[in-house]
Amino acid sequence: MTSLADVAVIGGSGLYALLDDAEEHVLDTPFGAPSDPVTVATVGGRRTAFLPRHGKDHRFPPHRIPYRANLWALREIGVRQILAPCAVGGLRPELGPGTFVVPDQLIDRTSGRVQTFYDTGAVHVNFADPYCTDGRAVVKKVAAEHGIDTHDGTMVVVEGPRFSTRAESRWYTAMGGAVVNMTGHPEAVLARELALCYTSIALVTDLDAGVEGDHGVTMDEVFAVFAANTERLRKVLLDVVPALPELPDDPCQHALDGMPV
Ligand code: ADE
Repeated sequence: MTSLADVAVIGGSGLYALLDDAEEHVLDTPFGAPSDPVTVATVGGRRTAFLPRHGKDHRFPPHRIPYRANLWALREIGVRQILAPCAVGGLRPELGPGTFVVPDQLIDRTSGRVQTFYDTGAVHVNFADPYCTDGRAVVKKVAAEHGIDTHDGTMVVVEGPRFSTRAESRWYTAMGGAVVNMTGHPEAVLARELALCYTSIALVTDLDAGVEGDHGVTMDEVFAVFAANTERLRKVLLDVVPALPELPDDPCQHALDGMPV
C-alpha cells in the first residue's frame, strides 16, 4: 500500500475524533479489523492518521481492543511514529486529576493478552526503554509552550476492566508506579515490534484507590475529567504532530535490525 500517513494518534477514552476534513479508510489486517476506520488528514504539513482505540462508540473495553490489528493497520499505511493519549489514575497525591504525565517506564500487570506479532523464530526486541525518547522530548516541550507542566513516571498497566483494590493500588505505588491504566500494554510493545516510535501522553482523571484520603475510582469521574481536558489535550496533540522529527533516527526505528523477520 502507498503511504497515507507517517504519524498516527491513537485516541483513548473520551478522544474519539481529532482531525478536521479527514478522509476515512476502512482497513483490514491478518489480525482482523482495527477498532474503527482510520481517518487521515494533514496537520501542519504532516500526513496524520487517527484511530480511536476503543472504537468511536467505545465498544471495545481495554481487554478486548484489537491491539495487533490497530498497530498493523497503522504500519501498513506508512505510519512510523505514534502518539498515544490515554486516561490514567494517579498513584501519588501530587498527581491529581488534570495532571499530564509523559511516562518513561512501564510495568505490565495485564494477563492473557496477546503481546507479540512473532509466534515463530527468535525475535526478542529490546524494551528496556518502552517509550520514544524523541517523541517524549517533543511532547514535553510543546506542552510547556501551552503552559502545561508535565511529569515523568512509570505507568502500571492493569488487566481491568475493574479498577484496582486499595491494596493493589498501594502496592503499585510502592513498586514505583506513578500512574495506572488499562490500555498502555500491549500497545507499546507491539509498536516496538514493528519498529515504530511510540509516545504515551497520560492525562490523570482520578486518584487511584490506594492514594491516602481518596474514595475509590468511578467511571463517571474518569469520563468527566477527561471531557473537561479534551480541548487542552487536542491542542497539544495538533502542535506536537508537526514538531516531531521528520526522519527519526532513534533506537525505536532500529528495533528489528538483525532479527529474522
Ligand atoms: N484509567 C483511568 N483511571 C484509571 C485507574 N484509576 N485505574 C486504571 N485505569 C484507569
